[in-house]
Amino acid sequence: MNKHVTVAEIGPRDGFQSISCMMIPTETKLEIIEAILASGVKKLQCTSFVSPKAIPQMQDATQIAQTLLEKHPEVDLFALVPNFRGAQSAVEAGLKTVSPVISLSVSHNQNNVRRTHEQSFDELKRIMDTFPELNIDLDVATAFGCPYEGRMTVPALVDFVGKLYDLGIRSFNICDTIGVAYPTQIRETFQALMAAYPDVHFSVHIHDTRNMGILNSLEAVRCGVDTVQTTLGGLGGCPFAPGATGNTATEDFVYLLDREGYETGIDQKKLLAAAKLEVEKIPGNYSGHHIHINVEQKGF
Ligand code: COA
Ligand code: ZN
Repeated sequence: MNKHVTVAEIGPRDGFQSISCMMIPTETKLEIIEAILASGVKKLQCTSFVSPKAIPQMQDATQIAQTLLEKHPEVDLFALVPNFRGAQSAVEAGLKTVSPVISLSVSHNQNNVRRTHEQSFDELKRIMDTFPELNIDLDVATAFGCPYEGRMTVPALVDFVGKLYDLGIRSFNICDTIGVAYPTQIRETFQALMAAYPDVHFSVHIHDTRNMGILNSLEAVRCGVDTVQTTLGGLGGCPFAPGATGNTATEDFVYLLDREGYETGIDQKKLLAAAKLEVEKIPGNYSGHHIHINVEQKGF
């Protein structure tokens, strides 16, 4: 049997949050999400519970989450939360999993969530103590490089993950927030993390700034990472990470996994239809190679 890889769609958060030229109507977001789910995607970051002043595009978080939870109990829905208040809103909306975000680099953490590491750790503890049933899938941002501090090292990341491990976290999403990683770094990083914490689940989140998103995402899978976050069309970019572009494009990555003999459970034709719909509805920065959206290639 082919090895299964979970392709976790995070465009409705990391993609949509980057759109500043228009407020995407909630119905449009839901229409695109429905098209994505129709392709067989089973894990989806549907929104983030953040300050509407920081990211106006996410102000319909509760409505998005509640609508999807009601319609799609079969889907593993989760949301990014920057602080306790966000986690509380996510729980109130009915979500069972949240992704608090803490950056490996102190400067990015300060810029992104306005907290020191110590403050972020304290807030995380508060979330875990208050909501013991809530699943935490922790985003480690700037794990490979930071827009303010430059390169990050593997030992620093392993140590940082260890501190969070000691708090009780067993699920981490390792993020190349600005898209500077390269395959050898990916390999060294996951080999070190998996050796140090064999009982931890790791996923990966890669930005495609230097056209290495798909390469790095595949390298992570080859290292044994079974869950990869991507965005439809490669839409995205972090408003608090200058220079970052979109993520690895879901449709390109699903194609690659399929050709490489991995099983995703995702129907490529339906996924491309969702990508077409998204491009039609939302003008934005797409790093996906859209030739595939417009060209039907017989047999592929
Ligand atoms: N949901 C909704 N509103 C929130 C909120 C949340 N999770 N967290 C804070 N706010 C509001 C507060 O009510 C306050 O509003 P007001 O000015 O009208 O009173 C304002 O945001 C600032 O509150 P404060 O307590 O100073 O915020 P904070 O220090 O706890 O955190 C952040 C501010 C980090 C939460 C905010 O800057 C943010 O949401 N950033 C987004 C980070 C992000 O999503 N980055 C990209 C993805 S990695
Ligand atoms: Zn991102």
